Amino acid sequence: MEIDVFTLFPDAFGWFEHQRHVVGAIEHGHRLRYVNYRDHTPLSAGQVDDAPFGGGAGMVLRVDVVEAALRARYATDPVELRRTRRVIALTPSGRLLDDALVDELAAAEALTLLSGRYEGFDQRVLDHFASDQVSIGRYVLAGGELAAMVVCDAVLRKLPGALGHEHSALEESYSKALDRAPEYPHYTRPAEFRGWSVPEVLLSGHHARIHDWRLAQSRLRAGAAPDPPLA
Ligand code: ADE
Repeated sequence: MEIDVFTLFPDAFGWFEHQRHVVGAIEHGHRLRYVNYRDHTPLSAGQVDDAPFGGGAGMVLRVDVVEAALRARYATDPVELRRTRRVIALTPSGRLLDDALVDELAAAEALTLLSGRYEGFDQRVLDHFASDQVSIGRYVLAGGELAAMVVCDAVLRKLPGALGHEHSALEESYSKALDRAPEYPHYTRPAEFRGWSVPEVLLSGHHARIHDWRLAQSRLRAGAAPDPPLA
């Protein structure tokens, strides 16, 4: 998997890059790179944004600036690029990110993430360069960097090798393995603390019973009726 993040603030990813699963993914050959729109702007003085036509607050990331950055990275017309590569603009009104979308993105060979700033993108970026728009929630962030990090985090931890333990991303909240239900509860030592004990079944060493209990807990959390007890 190769992820390219287009941003005005590549330094914002410094902390994220040192997270264990990100380091793990990169050690396994996955790539995470940044393109700074400002490095490729055709405008003078590093200009990348402009006031919106029609007036209003804030500044809009220019379509010519985004095109120049995409062309510099891929040496192709971005209108063509989106036919062969997922070019995802991070926007508050895009498709909501959930585990199913993360699975879909993790299956791609390459992703391009476009972070916006200020009032967002000129609409022509979304209409002609982006293949998708993704939102991490129905609220507005000051920029797409945090949203891009959320997407990268969720996608990278799904990739083989990222978590060290191959199975840790399989049976988790909202995964297919749990029918998209929330995950079951976890406990660790001490088995007894302030009178709060761990469910007996987890200490039983009986793997089939533990598995059934976990699935039932997950279904309960999803609001589904638990399986009737076996006769
Ligand atoms: N950019 C600003 N707000 C955003 C959000 N909620 N999701 C994705 N990108 C954004």
